[in-house]
Parts: sequence; structure tokens; C-alpha cells
Amino acid sequence: MNNLGADTLKSPGKFNKEPNMTESEKKTTSDGEFDEHGYWINRWTTKNIPFHQEEMHVSLEKHLDKFIDGRNGIKIFFPFCGKCVDMKKLADKGHNIVGVDVAEQAFQEFFTDQNLEYTVEELKDNTGKLFASKDGKIKLYCMNMFKFSKDFEGQFNAIWDRGALEAISPKTRIRYSQVIKELLSPDCHYMIAAMQYDPSIFQGPPHNVTEEDIQNLYGDMCSIEEIDKNDNSPRFKERGLEEIFEVIYFLKIK
Ligand SMILES: C[S@@+](CC[C@H](N)C(=O)[O-])C[C@H]1O[C@@H](n2cnc3c(N)ncnc32)[C@H](O)[C@@H]1O
Repeated sequence: MNNLGADTLKSPGKFNKEPNMTESEKKTTSDGEFDEHGYWINRWTTKNIPFHQEEMHVSLEKHLDKFIDGRNGIKIFFPFCGKCVDMKKLADKGHNIVGVDVAEQAFQEFFTDQNLEYTVEELKDNTGKLFASKDGKIKLYCMNMFKFSKDFEGQFNAIWDRGALEAISPKTRIRYSQVIKELLSPDCHYMIAAMQYDPSIFQGPPHNVTEEDIQNLYGDMCSIEEIDKNDNSPRFKERGLEEIFEVIYFLKIK
């Protein structure tokens, strides 16, 4: 495994500041659990989405050749996709995009921002809705990711996991990795962006995801290589974090 030194860190670029979670965002469900869905839908309706970037992710762009590996028209999965512009950039390169997110507003904004015509259809059994570009190259499922499976779109040749594994609470990670593992085709290139910081200062989201966490979740099935490290500190200064890094891991089935 490759550990990148400080000299490989990139400048943070233009970030919006990450605000603290408000009291109304800290909703609980009837069983006292933190209401993750309500939390995220509230963030979209109140336009509290500092994680959204207008440009292609710097590490995806830098490692695109490794991610795509010369393959044409591959199927790429974006878990917890939001309105990520990377989906449009990769569709424009001829790939087939599938995303999943609970927030319908994210999809309406995605197609409007990208100036794409789209259709909406209800999924059977009330699982959610499918938003699809008219040319069928981008299919976005508005549903709980934990109900998604290979029954929807089969397996994927590549997965870009940015703002997904790091967004969910640590206790849900094993369930999440079980969903993802079922979606990995034998040739899948799975890239994970993991936020790393001192969790005694801030508890997320984004949650602290260490290399050991990734090993514990995927090490039985995948080789894991650290390929990049971005300094995200300016975005999180207001939360009392002096240092936070976004570390990029490249996983392949062993
Ligand atoms: C930090 S944002 C990242 C969005 C996107 N990946 C990006 O990089 O801009 C996390 C996203 O996960 C979605 N989300 C949270 N829990 C989810 C779940 N259980 N199923 C599907 N989407 C979920 C939220 O609505 C939100 O858009």
C-alpha cells in the first residue's frame, strides 16, 4: 500500500464553508435513532449543500485513466450521488451512468443545471422513482441506497464513492459495504474518497474513515491502494478542525 507524503497534497481550491449541524437537522425517529434521511432531505431543501462541487472532482480527473482503464461505454455507479457533475462529465465520454440518492430535489437540480431533458417514473412496490435522461445514458434512482441491489441495473465496471461511505454513520457501514460488494463486477474499479481527521474534535458527517476501516469492510474481497490525498482543511475550519484530508483509495477485486 502506498502512503502519500505531505508533498503530494493539493491546494484546497474553492470550497464553500461546511456549517455546523443545526438543532432542526438533528432530528430523531420515533425509536430515538438519528433520522439520516430527514437530515439529508432537509439539507437539500434548505440548500445546505457545501459538499457539491461545480467542477469535476480533482482526484477523479487526475486518475481518470486508471479508473476507466481504456474501457469504452462502461457502466459506472455513483452511490449517494446528489447532483454530482462528474456523472455528466463521464456520460459525455460515452459511459453509462447510474446514481442513487434519497433526495428528489438533487435530481431535479441535476437535470436542470445540466440542461438535460429527462423522464420520471415510479418504481414498483413504492421503492422510489427513476429519473432518466432522454438518451438513457444517465439513470438516477431516487430511493434509499440500502434497498438498491443488482436486480436494478446488474453489476458495475466502476464505482465513484465520494460523499457516500463518509456520509453514513459508522454503525451502518457494514450494511452499506454489503450492498456495494454485490454491485462489483469482476473488472470493477472502485474509488473511495475518505475524509480523515481527529474524530475527538468533530463527529461528522462527513465521518472519519480510516484506511483500517476500509480494510475491515473490503479487505476480504479487494486490494486497496492509496492513490491521492487532498487538503480539505479550509472548508471545515468553522467546525474547529485544523486539519482534514480527503484520501482517495483505489480498490480492485483480488
Ligand atoms: C455528502 S452528500 C454527497 C453527494 C455527492 N456524492 C457529491 O459528491 O456531491 C451525501 C448524499 O447522500 C444522500 N444520501 C444520504 N443517505 C442516503 C441513503 N440512505 N440512500 C441514498 N442516498 C442517501 C444525500 O441525500 C446526499 O445527497
